[in-house]
Amino acid sequence: MNTETSLQEYRVWDRSIRWFHWINVLSVLTLMAIGLVIMNSKALGITDDGKILLKTWHVYVGYVFVLNLLWRIVMGFVGNRYSRWSAILPLGQRYKQQRRAFFERLKQGKELGFMGHNPLARWMVTLLFIMLTTMAVSGLVLGGTDVYKPPFGSYFKSWVAESPETVSQVQPYSDVGVNETAYKEMRDFRSPFKEVHEIGFFVLAALVILHLLGVIITECRERNGLISAMFTGRKVFRDKPVDLQD
Ligand code: HEM
Repeated sequence: MNTETSLQEYRVWDRSIRWFHWINVLSVLTLMAIGLVIMNSKALGITDDGKILLKTWHVYVGYVFVLNLLWRIVMGFVGNRYSRWSAILPLGQRYKQQRRAFFERLKQGKELGFMGHNPLARWMVTLLFIMLTTMAVSGLVLGGTDVYKPPFGSYFKSWVAESPETVSQVQPYSDVGVNETAYKEMRDFRSPFKEVHEIGFFVLAALVILHLLGVIITECRERNGLISAMFTGRKVFRDKPVDLQD
C-alpha cells in the first residue's frame, strides 16, 4: 500500500514569521560571536579602541535583532492563528487539553500532529521569547551606558557629564568632561544589567541547544517537515492536526 498518497499539506508559517525566524537566527548567532569576543577581550589583548569598535558593531547588530523581535511581538497579536500569543503561551483550558492528549499519545509511543507548536514546544518558545526580550532590554541599557548609543545614550551622557556644557565631550572610555562621582553612580546602576546580560547569554545558548534538539527529535519522530516548514511555510500530516480548528 502506498501510504504517501494519504499525506496532506497545510500552510502554517507565513512569510513574515519565516523572515523573523531566520533574521533572528543570524542576528543572535552574530551577537553571540561578537559578545564572546567582548567577554574575553582582556585575555585576547584587545585595546580600548578595539573594544569600542566591537561594542559598537554589537550594538548595530543588536538594533536589527531588537527591531525584528518587536515586529514578532506585534505579529503575535495580528498574525495568523498559529503565530499568535494565544497559540504560543502555555496557558488556558485548550492548552491543558492538548497537553493531556499529547502526553497520553506519547506514553503509547505514538505522536499527535500539531499545525503550530506542540505543548512542549510552547514552553520552549515562551522561554526563548522571555530570554530574547531580556537580552534586548539589558543590551539596550548597556549600549547606552557603555558606548552611549541610542535610545538611552544621551540620557547616560547627561548623567555622567561634569556640566550641561560638557555633555558633548563625553565619549566611551574617556574621562574628558566626566564627573567621577556621577560616573561611578552610573556604573553602579549599570552593573545588574551587565550581570543579567552575561547570565542571559549562557541561558539563551542552553535554550538554543535544547530548541535544536527538540526540533530534530520531533522531525525524526513525526516526519511532518517541521524543519523545511521554516523555509516553505508548509507541514505535511497523515491525520488531521489537533489544532487545525483552533
Ligand atoms: C540575543 C542577543 C544578545 C546576545 C546573545 C548578546 C551577548 C553578549 C555578550 C556575551 C556580551 C559580553 C558580556 C560580558 O562582557 O560579560 C555582550 C555585551 C554587550 N552587549 Fe550584548 N548580546 C545580545 C543583545 C544585545 C543588544 C540588543 C544590545 C544593544 C542594542 C547589546 C549590547 C551589548 C553591549 C553594549 C555590551 C558590552 C557590555 C560590556 O562588556 O560592558 N547586546 N553581549
